[in-house]
Amino acid sequence: MEKNFKRTLVTTALPYANGPVHIGHLAGVYVPADIYTRYLRLQGRDVVMIGGSDEHGVPITLKARKEGVTPQDIVDRYHAIIRDSMKELGISFDIYSRTTSEIHNHTASEFFRRLYDNDKFTVATSLQPYDEQAGEFLADRYVVGTCPRCGKDGAYGDQCEACGTSLNATDLINPRSALTSAPVSMRETTHWFLPLDRYESDLRKWILEGHTEWKTNVYGQCKSWLDLGLQPRAVSRDLKWGVPVPVEGAEGKVLYVWFDAPIGYISNTKELLPDTWETYWKDPETRIINFIGKDNIVFHCIVFPAMLMAYGDGFQLPDNVPANEFLNLEGDKISTSRNWAVWLHEYLRDFPGRQDTLRYVLTANAPETKDNDFTWADFQARNNNELVAVLGNFVNRAMVLTHKYFDGVVPQPGELTEAETKVAAEVEAAKNALTEAIETFHFREALKQAMEIARIGNRYLQESEPWKLAKTDMGRVATILYTAVNLCADLAVACEPFLPFAAARLAAMLRLENISWSMIGTNPVAPGTQLGTPELLFEKIEDEAIAAQMKRLEDIKKQNQIANFKPEPQAPEIDFETFEKADLRVGTVLECEKVKKSNKILKFLIDDGMEKRIIVSGIAQHYDPKDLVGTQVCFIANLAPRKIMGIESRGMILSAMNADGRLVLIAPRSEVAAGAQIK
Ligand code: 2FM
Ligand code: ZN
Repeated sequence: MEKNFKRTLVTTALPYANGPVHIGHLAGVYVPADIYTRYLRLQGRDVVMIGGSDEHGVPITLKARKEGVTPQDIVDRYHAIIRDSMKELGISFDIYSRTTSEIHNHTASEFFRRLYDNDKFTVATSLQPYDEQAGEFLADRYVVGTCPRCGKDGAYGDQCEACGTSLNATDLINPRSALTSAPVSMRETTHWFLPLDRYESDLRKWILEGHTEWKTNVYGQCKSWLDLGLQPRAVSRDLKWGVPVPVEGAEGKVLYVWFDAPIGYISNTKELLPDTWETYWKDPETRIINFIGKDNIVFHCIVFPAMLMAYGDGFQLPDNVPANEFLNLEGDKISTSRNWAVWLHEYLRDFPGRQDTLRYVLTANAPETKDNDFTWADFQARNNNELVAVLGNFVNRAMVLTHKYFDGVVPQPGELTEAETKVAAEVEAAKNALTEAIETFHFREALKQAMEIARIGNRYLQESEPWKLAKTDMGRVATILYTAVNLCADLAVACEPFLPFAAARLAAMLRLENISWSMIGTNPVAPGTQLGTPELLFEKIEDEAIAAQMKRLEDIKKQNQIANFKPEPQAPEIDFETFEKADLRVGTVLECEKVKKSNKILKFLIDDGMEKRIIVSGIAQHYDPKDLVGTQVCFIANLAPRKIMGIESRGMILSAMNADGRLVLIAPRSEVAAGAQIK
């Protein structure tokens, strides 16, 4: 750190309480913020970590409408799920509050009012979509219509989900209200705007000159916004759900959610520290760090800082905004609407007691510089090959050997040899690299360095072989196990920010109390300490658990394909005579087998009521041939014979292709005579 700050205020993006949190939220914001905060606490620094639910805005009202409940019902439900699941994952907020709190309502109103009183806003009137029937203005998401790009109906006024194009409500063909389906009209409405252009030069100076150390993705996005030139931004909306605009003549208007949400950081600090909150926001010796995802960069680096500049009164700007990129899931973008996510509360249910594994994988794979992929195979491999085989294995060996040779009492070391000096130097190097990496928000690298201590330990035991020396030199065994136990202590501290549950269990086994960062490398476990019973820190994840998760994702993919199924356009019309030319019949399958050298084709012997016939069909991937014998199929009887894989096929068996690509054979609803014609 360049400057010695007195305290740190860590904020974490407030998730919308319109759904549970998923691994993308965790990897992008909450796990890194928690690592950083836990580390600062271990350093004995003054730090508070602020979180809470973002409970206003259109995302909430939309969800409520979809479910036919009130917005309050929605936020009550998801706030509880988010709060409880984050707690269970060990995200150690000092406060996790909500933007529907009384204190927030008051704080956000007062913030607006001060800007209003000090002429920090401009006012403008514009035309906005309006639903005459409902008597309400419509937010972009409440306008639906046909996408001008792909032609699909049901596109929203801000985006077409079918083709992904960003839209304006006025771009839609045949725009209708999502509330009543009434055609949308345009009506004048007046709103308050924050003239960002007034702050452009200060923002340029602050970021482009003052914060060249910011992550390149963050700095780059800020630079392109600033280079484009800033425009005034509306800070109010015609909506019923939100903090009412606290001025006369603003009935029916609320603060724009992106105006009130970041003020939530302030409200929540106030709620946590009613007497001292101001020192965390206004003292220049406080360091403010905003943990966010990349979609929030402009609001945290441009809009909220401009709001704070407009407010004045000593409010400090963030010192860093270490935004992450996005995490994908099995190669596909995480999407709430497509249910393409691993939801935290479901993970905790499916993998009880494995909080650290998820934290580990999300950190090892964190999308720090580019989008990254979460896969269940990687999750399993990292648990089994790294947590179990490297970290768990070292700790277990050190503990079990100490119990075996010294009844679990930490032995008095003898003279240290070159091996111990080497271990000490390696631990010192890992600690320095780890500290540097955390301080600069490189958590993947930091985790690697913490794990390096376990690798050092494994190498040390492997090379010094205390189990062999036990026959000849117990003095040397004492030194080795004393050193190994103290390496475990180093791990209990170094891993705590990443793996707090395992670290706590390890510290308890080592009888270590009040751990602190400065303990690393200082042999804090004294000779004579009676260690606890060795426990495995991690257990293997079996293939079945992974297969169950993959099956869930496959099912979701299929459901999505079915939901998005678009039938082929109808073929050109034919007359009845043409149709009659096709001789469609029912047949009974007498024999059915796979065709050698083809994984697609089945060969059927069909009882067609005449002479029997052979038909080949490309459905081997969808049916087991033995299940088809004795069943009935429909086929075209008078199709000219064709040779397929050297077999003459006389006809074609009818099947339908489902939205998920599965072929389904067409069969009569009850048995009919073989050879019966289909009319
Ligand atoms: O993108 C989101 O999920 C927003 N709810 C984040 C808000 S961050 C802060 F400003 F509150
Ligand atoms: Zn489209």
